[in-house]
Amino acid sequence: MLVIGIESTAHTFGIAIIKDKKVLSNCKSLFTTKTGGMIPAAVADHHFDVFDSVIRDALKKADAALKDIDLIAFSQSPGLGNCLRVGATVARSLSLNFKKPLIGVNHCVAHLEIGRLLFPECRDPVLLYASGANTQVIAYDGGRYRIFGETLDNGVGNFLDSFARELDLGFPGGPKIEKLALEGKKYIELPYTVKGMDVSFGGLLTNLKNKYRSGKYPIEDLCYSMQETVFAMLVEVSERAMAHCEKNELIIGGGVGCNKRLQEMCNIMCNERGAEFYAPENQYLVDNAAMIAWLGLIMHKSGIRMSIKDSKIRPYERTDEVEVTWRRE
Ligand code: ATP
Ligand code: FE2
Repeated sequence: MLVIGIESTAHTFGIAIIKDKKVLSNCKSLFTTKTGGMIPAAVADHHFDVFDSVIRDALKKADAALKDIDLIAFSQSPGLGNCLRVGATVARSLSLNFKKPLIGVNHCVAHLEIGRLLFPECRDPVLLYASGANTQVIAYDGGRYRIFGETLDNGVGNFLDSFARELDLGFPGGPKIEKLALEGKKYIELPYTVKGMDVSFGGLLTNLKNKYRSGKYPIEDLCYSMQETVFAMLVEVSERAMAHCEKNELIIGGGVGCNKRLQEMCNIMCNERGAEFYAPENQYLVDNAAMIAWLGLIMHKSGIRMSIKDSKIRPYERTDEVEVTWRRE
């Protein structure tokens, strides 16, 4: 089955073409700004400006034509309304024009399912979903993907980006902080906020900003200590969820998952408890359309059908609102 995936939950507009389990192309255009802020209407304008060229690019790389597509999958939830609406509109137009079925998918669930596709031996993982807007620990239980832990305020990526903005590093800040952290020599004590399986970053951000403004600490040490602290929080809640759910696989998703130190810490934790850790390559960690196409395909195969009327965006849908019809174990 040839499937086109459309991703547009936030700053990424992505188009992928997959043929059954094979990703033929995975293209995207990213909305960026020099100042770091993101105005939803401006991001939507970007998506409208680029959708045509990203579709052409993806079709060319896949050596496919729109008329051959069997299914149109798009990110229906959750995300910024303005942005989601662009992807949904493109999906509806293609569906009506080519008389092909469309299917809307949940972006968070897609992050987990792409991991299960890429690592066939990984059947029932806990997902540490660490992106800009989202920080959640998700696992399958009783026919749904449940959120066992999450951030009580900012997503970890937005938190990293906020501190990076304070340091004038530009957007996205995560990769720049990762680089600076490698030069850090001394660990500076910072607030560590874990509540059960939830985390919180607000107090830490204020504390870091105050330390930076005092001029007493090298920024490399601040970046290093910040990474050690927040990643330890993420690893702790992931481990607690694994113990609670009695699962012995951890998979990572989201842009912050590209961070090598976070991957290393997850790996150490998993080794210590005799579990397996899986990190997809970066193109599947960040927001991407391949995961949307794949989830659309397995949902379609499980019998789900969607009419144009059902294709309304759901900006606030939670992971556990999705009935998982494609998994039986
Ligand atoms: P979502 O809509 O799923 O919340 P998103 O729109 O924020 O995702 P992603 O591509 O998943 O997009 O993640 C972007 C975030 O990842 C940014 O906050 C960025 O700073 C962070 N990031 C990217 N690379 C790294 C890295 N190497 N280390 C830490 N953070 C990183
Ligand atoms: Fe995402």
